[in-house]
Amino acid sequence: LLSISDLSPAEFTRLVLNASSQKAAVKAAFAAGEQPPKPLHGTLAGKTVAMMFSKRSTRTRVSTEAAVQLMGGHPMFLGKDDIQLGVNESLYDTSVVVSSMTSCIVARVNAHKEVADLAAHSSVPVINALSSDHHPLQTVADFQTICESFGPARGRQPSDSSLGLEGLKVAWVGDSNNVLFDLATACVKMGVDISVASPAGYGIPEGMRKLILSAAEGVAAPGKLVETTVPEEAIKDADILVTDTWVSMGQEAESQKRLKAFAGYQITNELAKRGGAKPDWKFMHCLPRHPEEVDDEVFYGPRSLVFPEAENRLWAAVGKCLPNSRFPRKFPEARR
Ligand code: CP
Ligand code: NVA
Repeated sequence: LLSISDLSPAEFTRLVLNASSQKAAVKAAFAAGEQPPKPLHGTLAGKTVAMMFSKRSTRTRVSTEAAVQLMGGHPMFLGKDDIQLGVNESLYDTSVVVSSMTSCIVARVNAHKEVADLAAHSSVPVINALSSDHHPLQTVADFQTICESFGPARGRQPSDSSLGLEGLKVAWVGDSNNVLFDLATACVKMGVDISVASPAGYGIPEGMRKLILSAAEGVAAPGKLVETTVPEEAIKDADILVTDTWVSMGQEAESQKRLKAFAGYQITNELAKRGGAKPDWKFMHCLPRHPEEVDDEVFYGPRSLVFPEAENRLWAAVGKCLPNSRFPRKFPEARR
């Protein structure tokens, strides 16, 4: 699984619904003081999952390790200083060797080509845990989160090939990056409209736009992708406002330039009001978050889904080990 483009609408739907049903089943089991339900527990018995991470991670690392553990497998974390990933050894050699000893590779890399090369030469499945271009695990958790707020509770029922979210509108305000690319692909696939507001020069690259739009092929009512440089235009009638850091990992040298270019793109209640978001709009962010892209009032406010969204990273990777959700029911006082 290298990107959301690899999945049909039915496959994507199944991943999201599986995440939701595992969440319900595992929480119920732990609440009753029982082991995780079968067949979840034991799915990976005797198997090792190699987790090769060239970059930092909180959510992806913790959710994947916990999920593998929950499924009875062994997560083997391999940081950038632990193995020869692209340093001192070719990706080809690493891929052949690691896949000969493990059952799955989860890889967080720099250039997308690195994870694509790993997959091309691996004899076991490879899951992209973030590359320069894609973050598919995040998108599964994001759609699970959207379903929890806007799905069955609001009369939108999933089917085998649809989450029933058609007609919703997502507004992305900020950098056009890896997280956006998979989110937008899933939106088009699932019939959810998405408007993207990025400063001039920070929009979606042409090749990526083509890939995102190709998600519409064979979909009866695909979501529309609209691009603008004006945040208010993107926000008009949006149900969900989403953003991410303006400086992704690896772009640190461009920090000052980027902070200047993105001035005016911070998500605030005032911006949402000025832009005309739907009255009950919600806010999402994959985290880690910085105050420049969203202020505390929104991030810690009642419209924010960020902590359930983060928790869903675990469910998207299958299951959770705690009887009760640990995300705060009451958000902390706004602070900078
Ligand atoms: N959202 C996300 O992938 O977070 P980490 O970088 O902490 O894994
Ligand atoms: N766009 C961010 C996402 C981190 C989860 C990055 O690539 O650093």
